[in-house]
Amino acid sequence: MNITNDIKYIGVNDHAIDLFEGQYTVPNGMAYNSYVIKDEKIAVLDTVDKNFSEEWFNNLKEATEKEPDYLIVQHMEPDHSANIDNFMSIYKNTKIVATDKAFKMMQQFFGTDYKERAIVVKEGDTLNLGKHTLTFIMAPMVHWPEVMVTYDSFDKVLFSADGFGKFGALDVEEDWACEARRYYIGIVGKYGLQVQNLLKKASALDIKTICPLHGPILTENLEYYINLYNIWSSYGVESEGVVIAYTSVYGNTKKAAETLQQLLTKKGCKKVVLNDLARCDMAEAVEDAFRYGKIVLATTTYNADIFPFMREFINHLTERNFLNKKIGIIENGSWAPTAAKTIKKMFENSKNLEFTDTTVTVKSALNKESLNQIEALAEELL
Ligand code: FEO
Repeated sequence: MNITNDIKYIGVNDHAIDLFEGQYTVPNGMAYNSYVIKDEKIAVLDTVDKNFSEEWFNNLKEATEKEPDYLIVQHMEPDHSANIDNFMSIYKNTKIVATDKAFKMMQQFFGTDYKERAIVVKEGDTLNLGKHTLTFIMAPMVHWPEVMVTYDSFDKVLFSADGFGKFGALDVEEDWACEARRYYIGIVGKYGLQVQNLLKKASALDIKTICPLHGPILTENLEYYINLYNIWSSYGVESEGVVIAYTSVYGNTKKAAETLQQLLTKKGCKKVVLNDLARCDMAEAVEDAFRYGKIVLATTTYNADIFPFMREFINHLTERNFLNKKIGIIENGSWAPTAAKTIKKMFENSKNLEFTDTTVTVKSALNKESLNQIEALAEELL
């Protein structure tokens, strides 16, 4: 696939993977993108996952018969770096261009930092290939500390590493935002500040094409994607609505959650999302929590704590800097309901969260009193 006259796509699609990064389901597979820039000098940008060595080398050989001059390593996570050592054994004269931290990681992964063949780059360093001059822009913690992105001023292409990536192989058509959001919140969500820093640097560049390491190459309407990245990385509200995330042991907490959903809908709430944390994709539920500005957590007291799926869910939120949200709580307990207290404690180090005045307390099953509380909670969430 040609991206421009000189830039070729040489990545691969992975439909055999069960869990990406050991935890994310990827029903439409995964793409590991890799690129070649053909100029007087030839540069390859990143390798691919270890299970696709042969296919990737074939793609590379098809794209260029000449030995590449440079292998640019933007990110050392093994879904991109796994073939560095194979590459360096095949192409004996190619130099590696990467950050100092990336070379340290090569030493860890491969037992060598390719000292004689290393070009260490830092913020603003350039590499001239002929017509194309590449500028390296440091992007620490988007998503690992050694990450850099690369700007080609000739074709106005930003090679964005994991930034603007998504789940899903490139031979499957699907909505970009849904799987890009789940990918971003799950994988990079904690590092909003670092993404904001990168977006600031990118805003000074004239970008016509974004080439990420996962997901499709973005060529049109770039403001749309950049705007979403801006919202996600600043923990803003992307969509109006309320998310109700619940766990239920015998159905009574579920009934309370559904009652709230129906009330909110009846009262004109634009969108109410209901997620059963024991059954839905946890990463999807986490994505929804960040997407909307209001969330209700409904769960039971369990072993003097809260139900395990809710504890796991809240841990996912707090470790990703959950902030700028309004939170309502529905607790259920048959003898000592303390879930609300436990939930509030779990968020005590989170910033800029507002709890609703109303907390719904269900004692075993809904009654008049708890139904009134649900009504009051719905009013507060409109
Ligand atoms: Fe796609 Fe952070 O690796």
